[in-house]
Amino acid sequence: MQINKTLNSRKGVFISFEGGEGVGKSTQIDLLRKDLINSKFNVVSTREPGGTKEAEELRKFLVTGDEKAWDPFSESLIFNAIRREHVNKIILPAIKNGSVVLCDRFIDSTIVYQGLVGEVSEKDLLELHKKYCYNLYPDLTFFLNLPPQKGLKRTLKRKNIVENRFENLGLNYHQKILNGFDTLQKRNPNRIIKINADNTKEFISNEISSYVKKLLTIND
Ligand code: TMP
Repeated sequence: MQINKTLNSRKGVFISFEGGEGVGKSTQIDLLRKDLINSKFNVVSTREPGGTKEAEELRKFLVTGDEKAWDPFSESLIFNAIRREHVNKIILPAIKNGSVVLCDRFIDSTIVYQGLVGEVSEKDLLELHKKYCYNLYPDLTFFLNLPPQKGLKRTLKRKNIVENRFENLGLNYHQKILNGFDTLQKRNPNRIIKINADNTKEFISNEISSYVKKLLTIND
């Protein structure tokens, strides 16, 4: 009841960024954050798995090490626990105080990685989200669409190549991830905007900004 009241009195805006590996989510979040701060918005930028100190610790276990360390069902339970903490401690308070929340991955990643590709029942995943994360969905989601060959190539160039547990699952796996996001976008065409990420970061950022400006004007 308490939470429903919080959700009903939403003042801020919640935007997530999704896609496969190396599609440029963090670059785009950073550009949008700077743009919004220049326009005097309060911005909270955060990520999953992560967001809280404890969840950042847990992140290490999920994104490093052996590909088979967790099966997709166990993963989905951990992602759900991390998300619950993240929603309670970071996302809902920020929305309530009128901030624009920019989140690198959210529930759509679980539906695609653990559900559509990992074959955990989607009904169970949606049920968990409803039960423990208040069925919270972003107001807007950008799906950055890039062929997995290009995305994986970019991740290899990063300094932090320890975080490669999912990257190591191979091209076929990552093509399925891309198809999964495509499916989800077609099911939610109003919330999820598909962006061609095979472009300059400035071009992509302009496109994203135009959608965000429209959303923020509507929310005024
Ligand atoms: P990142 O590389 O975008 O920071 O994301 C970390 C990895 O975690 C990425 O390979 C996707 C994976 N992931 C899931 O499998 N399920 C989820 O619910 C989330 C949030 C991430």
